[in-house]
Amino acid sequence: MSREPRIALYPGSFDPLTNGHVDIIQRGARLFDRIIVAILMNREKTPLFTAVERVDIAREVFANEPNVEIDTFGGLLVEYARRREASVIVRGLRAVSDFEYEMQMALMNRHLSPDLETVFMMPGEAYTYLSSRLVKEVFALGASVAGLVPPAVERRLLVKR
Ligand code: PNS
Repeated sequence: MSREPRIALYPGSFDPLTNGHVDIIQRGARLFDRIIVAILMNREKTPLFTAVERVDIAREVFANEPNVEIDTFGGLLVEYARRREASVIVRGLRAVSDFEYEMQMALMNRHLSPDLETVFMMPGEAYTYLSSRLVKEVFALGASVAGLVPPAVERRLLVKR
């Protein structure tokens, strides 16, 4: 029996994409027919990478993964999900500290769109302490971020320095 392809959205700021994000996307790509990495535009006034740069980076990293698509979105996530015919939102949960924010978002999104299901995935334990914010901070203070972000991000960070 054939069924509709199951499309998942993995939304976020991805400023920058970290190896923790990559890990979640790879896990999602194994579970769903397609996973759309949905990069939120214009949230921070001064992002480190523009939306165009973040798209370029993610497309480079997932160039060989046919069921991973990279896109940008603005406005309400549930509206974007409806347009893209996605039935699942994927979010990574690293630690208990993520839980409250994630639960609020998941329940608000469910309130707005009851059929859209949020699925939480745990990254590999090496990434439980990793966040885009800390990557930016340690890089700005001169530390190496090798192993924390894909080489495509590291290269572009070095250019910005
Ligand atoms: O990587 P982030 O910054 O934690 O991702 C947050 C994101 C982009 C998932 C969230 O801010 C979002 O969905 N924004 C879109 C606006 C929206 O729909 N807000 C209501 C969601 S509860």
